[in-house]
Amino acid sequence: MKRYHFLIVILHWLMVPMIFMALFMGNEIANMANDIDFKIDRIDIHMKAGMLIAGLMLIRLLTRIFSKNPAEVDIGHPVLNKLGVWTHYLLYMLVFMIVASGISMSLGADIPGLILSSSTLPDSISDMPQRIAHGILTKILFVVLLGHIGASLYHQFIKKDGLFSRMWFGKR
Ligand code: HEM
Repeated sequence: MKRYHFLIVILHWLMVPMIFMALFMGNEIANMANDIDFKIDRIDIHMKAGMLIAGLMLIRLLTRIFSKNPAEVDIGHPVLNKLGVWTHYLLYMLVFMIVASGISMSLGADIPGLILSSSTLPDSISDMPQRIAHGILTKILFVVLLGHIGASLYHQFIKKDGLFSRMWFGKR
């Protein structure tokens, strides 16, 4: 098996811009004062995009579980081999934990109710444990993503082992 299932490949490349946009947009929202009236509209879009990411990530995970995947990569050191595998698990886990903390924050502060009544956000949201967790997890995700991108560039341009083609379209 040379490549991942085409659904995994499509979802991988679709989710790259989606996740970076959610990180960027979330950061913009978090830096806005809570009493700005359009902040709640931005949060509405952010939450819908986050839920879409969660749904796509779930489809991707299920496809990965139930399809045949390329063999684990041998980088030449057992610790590095495991690091690669665990980074991929961590990426899935972080996305699901970010979504769970986002949903919990939204329900805890009744954000859907605030959206429906066009109210502004209460200041109390800033100290909610779910919000703090959401912020920390998104920062960890950003760092892990940089490591993931760095590792794939290393494989492509320094090791030149064609690893990139595993996450691209073509005969499997
Ligand atoms: C992979 C999906 C997601 C990513 C990457 C993401 C990213 C972010 C980031 C970077 C922040 C700023 C955190 C900070 O610096 O404090 C944020 C804020 C926020 N996120 Fe998400 N998020 C995601 C999913 C969700 C979901 C599913 C919900 C709710 C259903 C949600 C609700 C919120 C809310 C309400 C804020 C604003 C907090 C504030 O302004 O005080 N997020 N998000």
